[in-house]
Amino acid sequence: MITYLRSATPSSLAGTALLRLDFNTKDDWRMRAVVPTVKFLLKAGATIVVVSHRGRPSGGSIVKGVPTGFPADLRLRKDAAKLSALIGRRVAFIGHFRFSEIKARIAAAPKGSVFLLDNLRFMPGEEKNDPAFARTLASLADYYVNDAFAVSHRANASVAAVTKFLPSYGGLELQDEIDGLSRAIVAPAHPVVLILGGAKASDKLGVIRHFRSRADAFLLGGGSANSVLALRGEDVKASLRETDPKILAALKPLARDPKVVLPVDFVWGRGKDAGKILDLGPRSQEIFAKKIASARTIVWSGPLGFIERAPYAKASIAAARAIGKNRKAFSLTGGGETVMFLKKYKLDEGFSFISTGGGAMLDFLAGERLPGIAALEGRGARKTKRGGK
Ligand code: 3PG
Repeated sequence: MITYLRSATPSSLAGTALLRLDFNTKDDWRMRAVVPTVKFLLKAGATIVVVSHRGRPSGGSIVKGVPTGFPADLRLRKDAAKLSALIGRRVAFIGHFRFSEIKARIAAAPKGSVFLLDNLRFMPGEEKNDPAFARTLASLADYYVNDAFAVSHRANASVAAVTKFLPSYGGLELQDEIDGLSRAIVAPAHPVVLILGGAKASDKLGVIRHFRSRADAFLLGGGSANSVLALRGEDVKASLRETDPKILAALKPLARDPKVVLPVDFVWGRGKDAGKILDLGPRSQEIFAKKIASARTIVWSGPLGFIERAPYAKASIAAARAIGKNRKAFSLTGGGETVMFLKKYKLDEGFSFISTGGGAMLDFLAGERLPGIAALEGRGARKTKRGGK
C-alpha cells in the first residue's frame, strides 16, 4: 500500500522532504502539475530538496563534485527560476554534488527553504539504481516524496532505491495519475476505444496486448496504422512504418482483428515528402469521430498525423474535438508530444484526464508494475521492459 501525502499526518511532514519531480519536458506543463504538491509540503512546514533529471546525459563527468562537460541545456539552473516563479518563493539552485556541503547548507537554512539539485543523471549511480547513491540522497532529508510519475517506470536511485532508506510517500500528482489511469484499466465503462498513433507502433505493443481482450475498438493512425496497413498488403510507399520482423510479428494479429479500425483515405506528402502518408483524410476522420462519439472510455496515445506541420494536424484536431464533445466518456491521454499539441490548439480541456507520463503512462496502461510505484508499495523495484535501458 502506498502512503500518500494526502493521508499523512501533517506533523510527520514538518522536516526536510526529498521531493522527486520530473522536469523533463520542453515546456513547463509537468512542473505546473506538481505546484500543489510543493505548496502542500510548505504548508505542512517542510523544507524541500527537489531532485529531478533532464534528457539522457552522456559525455561529461563529475570533477570535484561539479558536473563538467555535459550539455548546458541539460543543467537545471533555469528550472529553479521557473519553479520559483510558479510557487512564489525562492528556489536555491545547487550546481554541484558535494553532498557534505549540501547537507550543511540545508541544515543552516530556515524552515520552508526550497532547494533544487542539478540533473541527477549526471551522477553515475542514478540510472544504475545504485543503493550507495540512493543512501547519499536519502541522507539529505527526513522523508521522501515521489511526485514524478513520468519517470516512475525507471528503476533509478532517486525513484526506486531511495525508498529503502527513508519513510516514503506518493505525491498528490502521483496519486492522481494512479487513480486516473486506473479508471481505464480497472472495470472501464464500455465501449472502450483506444486511439493509437505516433511514429512507432513498437512503443504501444504492451498497451495493445493488454487491451486486446478489454477494448472494443482500436483506431489506428500514424506509424501504427501504416505498419498494420502494410501487413494487410496495402502499398504505403515510403510512409513511416515498422520494419523489424519481431515487431511486425507482434503486430500481425491486428491486421486480422475486427476491432481494429484503419484509415481509409490519406493526405500524402509532396516534394521531398512524396510517397509518405502525413495525415488521415476526411472519411477516416468521420469514421473515427463516430467511434469516439459512442465510446464510454477513450485512451489516446500518439498523434494521428505529422502534427509538427499544421496542414497535417487536421485528423488529430478532429479526433480531439470529437473527444471533447463526448461528455459521457472518460477520456485520457498523455505523452509530451500529444499534450503539447493539445495545449497549442486549446483542446486539452476536452479530456477527463491528462497524464504527465509518456513511457510511464504506456507501461502503466500495459498493466506493468512500475519500479517507482512498486518501491513506494514496499515491494522492491523491478525493471519494466521499457525501464531496462
Ligand atoms: C520521460 O520524459 O518520459 C521521463 O522523464 C523519462 O525519461 P527517459 O525516457 O529518458 O528515462
